[in-house]
Amino acid sequence: MAFEVHFRSATCGELTAKDIDREVTLSGWVNRRRDHGGLIFLDLRDRYGLTQVICDPERSREAHQIASEVRSEYVVQVKGLVKHRLPGTENTQLPTGEIEIVAQSIEILNYSRTTPFPINSDAIQVDEPLRLKYRYLDLRRPHMRDNIILRHRIVKEMRDYLDERGFLEIETPILMKSTPEGARDYLVPSRLYEGEFYALPQSPQQLKQLLMVAGLDRYFQIARCFRDEDQRADRQPEFTQLDVEMAFVSEEDVMGLIEDMLIKLIEKTTKKRIKQRPFPHLSFKEAMDRYGTDHPDLRFDLPLVEISDLAAAGTFGVFKSALSASGMVKGLKVPGGASYTRKEVDEITEFARTLGAKGLVQLAIQEGGTIKSPLTKFMAPEEVQAIVERLEGQPGDLLLFVADSAKVANDVLFRLRVKMAERLKQIDPEEMALCWVVDFPLFHYDEDLQRYDAEHNPFSGMDEAHIERLDSNPLDIRAKQYDIICNGFEVGGGSVRINVAELQRKVFSLMKMSDEQIQEQFGHMLEAFEYGAPPHGGIALGVDRLVMLFADEDNIREVIAFPKTQSAQDLLMGAPALVDDKQLNELHLQVRPQAQPKGERV
Ligand code: AMO
Ligand code: AMP
Repeated sequence: MAFEVHFRSATCGELTAKDIDREVTLSGWVNRRRDHGGLIFLDLRDRYGLTQVICDPERSREAHQIASEVRSEYVVQVKGLVKHRLPGTENTQLPTGEIEIVAQSIEILNYSRTTPFPINSDAIQVDEPLRLKYRYLDLRRPHMRDNIILRHRIVKEMRDYLDERGFLEIETPILMKSTPEGARDYLVPSRLYEGEFYALPQSPQQLKQLLMVAGLDRYFQIARCFRDEDQRADRQPEFTQLDVEMAFVSEEDVMGLIEDMLIKLIEKTTKKRIKQRPFPHLSFKEAMDRYGTDHPDLRFDLPLVEISDLAAAGTFGVFKSALSASGMVKGLKVPGGASYTRKEVDEITEFARTLGAKGLVQLAIQEGGTIKSPLTKFMAPEEVQAIVERLEGQPGDLLLFVADSAKVANDVLFRLRVKMAERLKQIDPEEMALCWVVDFPLFHYDEDLQRYDAEHNPFSGMDEAHIERLDSNPLDIRAKQYDIICNGFEVGGGSVRINVAELQRKVFSLMKMSDEQIQEQFGHMLEAFEYGAPPHGGIALGVDRLVMLFADEDNIREVIAFPKTQSAQDLLMGAPALVDDKQLNELHLQVRPQAQPKGERV
């Protein structure tokens, strides 16, 4: 420790044989107490580690007496001498395992009730609601402590990396204006302006662009973002982005910077291997074709293969009806799957059904080469063979097909692909497979709203050569957009932006915004673009998701000190909560009497 504090001269993680005979003062929590009749051993714990304290009545009757009274999680201060442990009693698992503190005196600094779950073992599974209610105890456990420390290190490395390259860390407001950007806003009622609201930022997108107009040409922020959307394992209502924007850059500049930073981050903070560098680039179309998703897990191969053209042959109703409804037939090869039992195949089919498939067509290539499949009844042998060849099926393999709309087929096969990789043990947990997904279309057509909608956000720029398609064929415009994917998670996304007011206006109007709406919601942006807006672009990385992957967790709650539950509740403080009438009155709000708190309460 670089600086001295009142209650201790060393931490519980630092004393070794070098310190023998030093007189030290330690303060910490009682991790465990073992009473050996004569001797009492205390394992003292703090953030830095564990140190064994030995209380011998022969040396200090008083210290021994107090040690006999302490219980787990009491906070104590121990003064004593650093001594070698007796030969044979060293603990090679602990950095402090060679030594122990022979207690001269012990003071109880505070008591602890019996904790609702044990702190001294990560091995015990504790229900998550209990962990979240007592998060301050959960965070004492080594596993959570390590995650929080790793998160700090990752964020620190990000800051240092960008600082060294001339980036300025600039804060942007949390109380902002509501602008439609994809998710639902969190709103904050104004006391001073009756009936008016601030919105919490879904991201600092507009403000970082305005910083570029301001000439602060390299910006970053560890930015808190708020989105009221349905929760999933990798989503929280508030989450953290490493938000970056730069002026005078191309797509390659932004991707190059972030790729280099991620490689250095992984090398500095984990022992993981990076599967491929430079990171491969996949077009959005390739990603969808080959993996059924725009965030594929590339730690394993198992490509998806479309067979719609081949499936048109024969008389198989399942294929025919999907194709006649402009759907597709797409499949996946499971190496060695021909030997799965009936029960195993049924399980896989059931899994596909829960994902929305109507079923799975199976084709097993038996060891002798014989094909077992319902297809053989409806197709000629050479038609079946063509399908086997398309998927490069070998004896022993199982081929699985989904016939459905492109959306359902891709969605089911994307998840089935991951499931099969897990089953085939093709996922190496020590590997990081990163890739860029590029060549996104600028727009998709939203059938529900009957309008074009930005694939990423309405500020993304487009290929200069495609600008004229805004009038003729908007769906055919390539956006200057890039997503960064790691192990199947979208860990970031960004774009080179539009910096010309007229072009930006045109994009908004294609999204069916009226001139008044554009002016009302984005007038400030358009005006700013008329005062010398430089070419600019940027990206935002999901810090929670990155830390989750670095820490080998499968849920971002494990790397957030005080997360919300899946149903957006804070179980520690009890939010959301009712407020009193006085507060409501000040805010000019009235809660409708029939309104019930929505969401499933824990
Ligand atoms: P986007 O919306 O893609 O881009 O967000 C960037 C990254 O943030 C992470 N992320 C989340 N993490 C946890 N919980 C959530 N609810 C959540 N939502 C998103 C993801 C995602 O890749 N302003 C643009 C960036 C830009 O264009 O520069 C933006 O916010 O890892
Ligand atoms: P059926 O004709 O409904 O008895 O289905 C015959 C086989 O095709 C069964 O194994 C189903 O699981 C499968 N199946 C049915 N619909 C689909 C579909 N849309 N895609 C893939 N397989 C399907």
